[in-house]
Amino acid sequence: MSLFLKKPISTLMAESAESEKSLKRTLTAGSLIALGIGAIIGAGLFVRTAAAAAQNAGPSVTYGFILAAIGCALAGLCYAELSSSIPIAGSAYTYSYATMGELIAWIIGWDLILEYAVGAATVGIAWSEYLNNLLVNVLGWGAIPYQWCHSPFQTSVDGTQNGMSNLPALAIVFILAMLLIRGTQESALVNGIIVITKVAIVILIIILGWKFINPANHTPYIPEPTKYVDHEGISHNFGGVMGILGAAGVVFFAFIGFDAVSTTAQEAKNPKRDMPIGILGSLAICTVLYILFAHVLTGMATTEDFRTSGKEASVVFAINKYMIGYGWLGKLVTVAILAGFSSVILVMLLGQSRVFYSMSRDGLLPKVFSEIHPVYKTPYKASWFILILVGLFAAFVPGDIVGDMTSIGTLFAFMLVCVAVIVLRRTDPGLKREFKTPLVPFVPILGIIVCGAMIVGLGWTNWLRLIVWLLIGFVIYFSYSRKHSVLQNKSNLIDPIVPPKSPFV
Ligand code: ALA
Repeated sequence: MSLFLKKPISTLMAESAESEKSLKRTLTAGSLIALGIGAIIGAGLFVRTAAAAAQNAGPSVTYGFILAAIGCALAGLCYAELSSSIPIAGSAYTYSYATMGELIAWIIGWDLILEYAVGAATVGIAWSEYLNNLLVNVLGWGAIPYQWCHSPFQTSVDGTQNGMSNLPALAIVFILAMLLIRGTQESALVNGIIVITKVAIVILIIILGWKFINPANHTPYIPEPTKYVDHEGISHNFGGVMGILGAAGVVFFAFIGFDAVSTTAQEAKNPKRDMPIGILGSLAICTVLYILFAHVLTGMATTEDFRTSGKEASVVFAINKYMIGYGWLGKLVTVAILAGFSSVILVMLLGQSRVFYSMSRDGLLPKVFSEIHPVYKTPYKASWFILILVGLFAAFVPGDIVGDMTSIGTLFAFMLVCVAVIVLRRTDPGLKREFKTPLVPFVPILGIIVCGAMIVGLGWTNWLRLIVWLLIGFVIYFSYSRKHSVLQNKSNLIDPIVPPKSPFV
């Protein structure tokens, strides 16, 4: 039994032949960009930006965005090569199974749980913050009691209240998981409307907020390096280079989702041309919007605001406090954000169910994960399990922690994707690559360095969480997955896969 047994690409192709029939090549470069933006803009911008400014970098969070975007672009170029040379609907898990073997594929698949499931919990928690804002500032009702919208590990900034469980976060995850089980998918039309709304409110805030920038809040732009100890006693590197690296790791969350574009290679009209345009185009648009947005946000409100009363629902807090006469904008943004976050959660839950489904078909996870509902034709048992997993994180873990776990897990997966490109060029130089990453190995190596730097910036508590997570994964792999692997047992290899329907058609 080899740890590095690779799934033959011919097998992947055979498996995908069935699904190919149900997937039409309808996506153009423009729709791929819209798809990317739909999956990208969410809690990262509307919640994590202020957190990064408060804990790590003040106004220089904008530099953090630039660094995170560079890391994503480099990894994105590598994603594009893999997805165009293994042109089946899949994810980093599928690509790595064919290129680097089972153990690495397992590590990536296990790691993707951090990206998708824990990421969905992060956005659910952010949704809960803005729901409270809707109840208080838009509807004029009271707020949900503190203990029922915060995890047991949180205390209020004034130290008088403790959290118990984040029920709204749990509720939104529950509703969306139920929709998923019913086979509900976001249609291209709904995705289009949500993308336009999200981009429109970001642009509105940039344009209308620009004149409320107080230059004093941007001075100094890069704060002196110090330690910031928050009200819960957690210490952060604030200011200087380490502050920017830390901020980059935190706001990296805001870019997660662009890799969703690479999973639709089978549905692109002209993958060779459109994949890189879709991936890099959506990244470029978001990067410009993010930098301008962060510049305005940190210019309007102070770092102290984001550490205290503006810690939650920070964007609407800043609008309501500093943009006098623009109360309507705060309300509009709240409603739009709640809808926008829901669509991000849906895409993440769906991504997770696809990965679990593939891992289960390969025997690395129990077969129940690929059982299909007789009526709805969705992997409903996997969705139930995902609901429990995401629900536990959403209800009982603070948003900062799940957010950073998502970032570090995804950064690690990106590094492995960069490695995969270098490895595959050596081991399979003749493979047909519709899109080639430029300047190999320079681009992948730079991607590894930049993503690694962000991991360094996230600090030792997050490294520890990642290590513990990976160790749990190893225990499961060696005690269960390896023994049940279809590939290791060399049976049932060409059993055609019919994956859950694509979210994007
Ligand atoms: N990029 C997505 C967000 O910020 C995950 O919500």
